[in-house]
Parts: sequence; C-alpha cells; structure tokens
Amino acid sequence: MDISDYRREYMSQGLDLNDLDKDPIKQYELWFQQASEAGIQDANAFSLATYDITSGPSLRTVLLKLFDAKGFVFFTNYNSQKSKQIQGNGQVAMLFPWLPLNRQVKVEGRCEKISTAASLKYFATRPRGSQIGAWCSDQSEVIESRSFLEQKYREAADKFKSGTIPLPSSWGGYRIVPHSIEFWQGQENRLHDRFKYTKQGSEGWSIERLAP
Ligand SMILES: Cc1cc2nc3c(=O)[nH]c(=O)nc-3n(C[C@H](O)[C@H](O)[C@H](O)COP(=O)(O)O)c2cc1C
Repeated sequence: MDISDYRREYMSQGLDLNDLDKDPIKQYELWFQQASEAGIQDANAFSLATYDITSGPSLRTVLLKLFDAKGFVFFTNYNSQKSKQIQGNGQVAMLFPWLPLNRQVKVEGRCEKISTAASLKYFATRPRGSQIGAWCSDQSEVIESRSFLEQKYREAADKFKSGTIPLPSSWGGYRIVPHSIEFWQGQENRLHDRFKYTKQGSEGWSIERLAP
C-alpha cells in the first residue's frame, strides 16, 4: 500500500524563545496542562526508548505518574525487558506525541530506581485489581496461555483476600533525570519550531533553536 500522499499541513501558532519558560519542567507542565485541557486521551502516555548492546534498541508505551524538578517518574516491573536494559544502560529517551496540538516533547536522560518507600506510596493508591495484577505477571516473560495468567490472578486474589496488599519486590518506579528536553511545534511548510533545553551542570539550562 502506497501511503505517500497521506499528509497534512501543521498549522499552529508559532513558538518563539520569548514564549518559553527558562525552566523546561515548568514549560513541560504548561504543555501537559494544555494537552489534557485539549482532551488528548492519555496525555501522560509516552514512548520509552531503551538500548543495550546485547538486545539493541527497544521501545514501548508507559504512563507518566509524577514529574518535578528532579525528573519524570513511571512504574513498571523491575524484571521486565525494559528494566533489564535500563540496568545495563541507564541512558533512555522518552517521547510524548501530542499530535492533535501539533506538538511533541522529547526527553533524554538517565534512568534510576526511586526509593521503595516512594514506590509503596504510589502502589498504595492503585486500584486493588491492579495491585493484584502486579503480583501475578512476570512482565515480558513468555507464557503458555491467557488462562495461565488468569489462574495466577485467581491465586493472587485468593492469597490477598483481605488486608493491605504488599508491594512486590519486583515492582516499582523509575525516575528519568533529564539532560535534554526538546519542545516541537508543527508549522506550515514543514518549517516547524524546535527548542532544545540542555542541562548546564548546576547553572540551569541552555536553550537553542534547532532546524526542523
Ligand atoms: C497506554 C499504555 C500504557 C502503558 N503503561 C505502562 C506502564 O505505566 N508501565 C508498564 O510497565 N507498562 C505499561 N504499558 C505496557 C508496555 O507498553 C509494555 O508492554 C510493558 O511494559 C512491557 O514492556 P517491555 O517488555 O519492553 O519491558 C502500557 C501500554 C500502553 C499501550
């Protein structure tokens, strides 16, 4: 199937250096709010790229659950394929494709585990079914059937019939500590606006305009 004529013009208000906050996290916060106010479903969903020398590059969607001056936090299984790659190489990239706003945000940084206490704090807010689910899925492992998974769920649900469900040792959060954050705003004739913030040690961030 030839889809080479599948295209549209990206018409939106231009992005100028003067429009940007000096702090990329504040700029991200503004764009995140605008994405959710615009009704973009799962505006907190992002593509997480990982790489290690043995398995090469890999990519998947995860959900952002917290961000602040320290970085961007998501939760996952610590034995999953992504986690194995992160253990081998903590350098990762994340991408928020807010296409209905003709926008994307790209973050590159170093991934580190958050504390068990911080993981537990979030785990405790999850619906009970999701907490049980975290106990019964060896994420990224090959399984024989759906019924195998459902059986494991029934067993875990039975085990944790009442009371608080503990945090599995194989489950928790990672923080991506950014060293660069790029804001992309689509423009007419493919002359898009791109601004890249780069961390300058303790002195804050530099901001540069990139060619589209
Ligand atoms: C919308 C959406 C949200 C997701 N959120 C998460 C998440 O927050 N954490 C997670 O571990 N997997 C999440 N997943 C599943 C991942 O994309 C992926 O299948 C899983 O983490 C296993 O990835 P891996 O084998 O590369 O480690 C999500 C998938 C989708 C489509």
